[in-house]
Amino acid sequence: MNPDFLAHSGKTLLAGVIGWPVAHSQSPRLHAYWLAERGIDGAYLPLAVPPGGLEAAVRGLPALGFRGANVTIPYKEAVIPLLDRVSPVARRIGAVNTLIVEADGTISGTNTDAEGFIENLRDRAPAWRPDRPVAVLGAGGAARAVCAALLQAGVPELRLFNRTLEKAERLAQALGPDFAAPIRALPLAAADWAKAAPDLGLAVNTTSLGMTGHPPLDLDLGCLPADAVVADIVYNPLRTPFLAAAENRGLATVDGLGMLLFQARAGFAAWFGQTPEVTPDLRAFVLRGLGT
Ligand code: ATR
Repeated sequence: MNPDFLAHSGKTLLAGVIGWPVAHSQSPRLHAYWLAERGIDGAYLPLAVPPGGLEAAVRGLPALGFRGANVTIPYKEAVIPLLDRVSPVARRIGAVNTLIVEADGTISGTNTDAEGFIENLRDRAPAWRPDRPVAVLGAGGAARAVCAALLQAGVPELRLFNRTLEKAERLAQALGPDFAAPIRALPLAAADWAKAAPDLGLAVNTTSLGMTGHPPLDLDLGCLPADAVVADIVYNPLRTPFLAAAENRGLATVDGLGMLLFQARAGFAAWFGQTPEVTPDLRAFVLRGLGT
């Protein structure tokens, strides 16, 4: 290891990720990659903030000279009332994942998950266009960002499938007023899926199904059009059973790792002053951290 890189100067630009726990977060690894690639005198630290400590931690960021931080589970919603400014997209999603300490010491919050999702989709499936209905599977926190991104991109209709229908209905109602496109809430059931699938341009899994240790998302992909794109935001494993089934059918697929990488760019640019790129080498580096 190069000690020059670890010997931080008095000018080191500081950022980190606030969560509990944070040991699983890949963000320190991916920001370290970009800092090293660009030779920036900066540091990005895992900041494990125990329950009850969020307010002191956030208020401490300007005092400690931090440029900002990411916020992860379980604090993405709880951080909102502690901020001086919250961007419209973060308000719409109801969660903040990126904090920026402004020059005057105030703290702004935004959410970069939606742009991370859509930039990754465009990168990995360049032929995809927002010109046909899309299906989002799941109605949790991750689904909110994905739905907001797709509606913002201009999809003509959103079909929101969830095991608990009321949660899909609530999300549809929350997002509906901001967009012209209809949002239909549907149960995550084989019959409803079979009816909805034949004219889809894109299907996205945002549930935890398919993650290591969880059962797979078991939907028949045979009824999707041959040019539909199938995306998963799960990245552990990278090739979920859902994506494997789509590949076996010859459909274009988009894995979940890219969303994580693309959502990090805006924070890095705000804290460290350069907009980094998502490259195959970065993907491979972060994958090694996942032990894949
Ligand atoms: P996240 O913030 O990562 O989206 P979440 O808010 O807990 O996590 O949401 C998890 C999503 O996975 C929900 O849509 C959940 O469905 P319910 O709303 O019905 O709970 C979905 N999910 C989790 N386990 C599931 C399972 N076994 N079958 C179907 N859906 C499941």
